[in-house]
Order: sequence, then C-alpha cells, then structure tokens
Amino acid sequence: MTKKITIAIDGFSSTGKSTIAKELAKELEYIYVDTGAMYRAVTLYAMQQNYVSINHFNTEALINDINNISISFVFNETLGFAEVYLNGKNVEKEIRTIDVSKLVSKVATISEVRKKLVLEQQDMGKNKGIVMDGRDIGTVVFPDAELKLFMTASADKRAKRRYKELLDRGDSVNYEEILQNVQERDRIDSTRKDSPLIMAKDAVEFDNSDMGLKEQFERIMSLVNDKIH
Ligand code: DC
Repeated sequence: MTKKITIAIDGFSSTGKSTIAKELAKELEYIYVDTGAMYRAVTLYAMQQNYVSINHFNTEALINDINNISISFVFNETLGFAEVYLNGKNVEKEIRTIDVSKLVSKVATISEVRKKLVLEQQDMGKNKGIVMDGRDIGTVVFPDAELKLFMTASADKRAKRRYKELLDRGDSVNYEEILQNVQERDRIDSTRKDSPLIMAKDAVEFDNSDMGLKEQFERIMSLVNDKIH
C-alpha cells in the first residue's frame, strides 16, 4: 500500500520545475498544478484590462477587479497535462509570451493577488496526491508537504533553455532579452516582501545545471519512494 503525499517544487525561473513536476505527476498518477501559470493568467488579465503595461502599473484597479478573475485547469488528453483557462478561455499559449514574463513578477508582489491564488492552490491540494510547482509552495502554500524540492541552475543555462523553448514554439526571441528577464525575475521574486522565493528548511536542493532529465527524475523518484512506502 502506498500513501498519497504532497510534493512541493520551488526554485528560480526556468530551472525545469514544470518538466520534472509533469513527469512525476504522470508516474504517480497525481494532479499537477503549475502555479506560475496562475500568476501569469492574472497578469494577462491585467494587461487586457489595461491595468498594467511596461509604462504603467495600476495596482489598485487590479485589486478592485480581482474577484472577476477566474482561473481553472482543464486536462488536455493529447498533451498529457492540464492547460490553464482564464474566465473560461484557454490561455496556455498567451501566458508564456515575453510580454507577460516581463510583468508577471511585479504582479506577483501584490499581496491581494497572492492571497487569492494561495487559497485556490491549497484547495486544489486538500486531498493530497498533488505535485505543485512555484516559488512559495514549500514555504507558504504547503508548509507540511511530505517532500519539498528546491531547483537551481546557473542563469546562463536557464536562459538558454528558455530561449530554446520559445524558439521551438516559433516565437521570435532575443537571447540577451531572455537572460535579462530571467535575472530580473529572480531578483524581484527573491526580494519581495510577501512570500519571497527562499528554500524551505526541510527542502532538498537540486542543482540541475549539468544534470539530465533522466538522472533528475531517478533521483527524485527515489526520494518519493522513501516517502510513500
Ligand atoms: O514559474 P513561472 O516562471 O511561470 O512563474 C512566473 C512568475 O510568477 C514568477 O516570476 C514569479 C511568480 N510566481 C510566484 O510568485 N509564486 C508562485 N508560486 C509561482 C510563480
């Protein structure tokens, strides 16, 4: 008999958290939740309503409208993971653009946004059997998670991965712009007042700068097996 646990994966941007989280969820038949996608969906909404742009940031307008934002995940059989929906519309592709990436860390500093999303995340994980990735999962969302992982890799490696991902998708992107965005997001995410990105005391650190997916997966599965048996 195995028991269902909560797996919290935190770390810097583009450390491959979601790739490993998706693999784990598939292997364990757990729910996978990408919380970055939720912050990205709120950012997209704020952009669509003209509350935020590169030149202006109307925090108050966004906070006043926050109850009109509904985020959900719908499993896509073909892709094998759940796509994010904003007010009933599939926005999986739109939320990954560099324009959203440039604004999301700032939106994620707003406590009212965090409060709403953290409550929704806790609700999704109330029955355990979940793999959730983000920045504050092991520290704030599920401080009692049975397994906490903290992923790191050099900024250069991470920017190269992100660059390739966007190129493969057909986006026209500039490597320097991506490297700058990765570094700027790390800075904002780690220094914000409300739930900054820090490693939970009981997390296991994984530097995957030079580690392939297979090796990472095997090492993590052995940690999982220790917890579920
Ligand atoms: O994982 P990602 O790069 O898609 O996340 C986008 C941004 O959302 C990230 O720069 C910080 C924010 N975020 C957060 O503050 N807390 C989370 N749990 C997940 C993401």
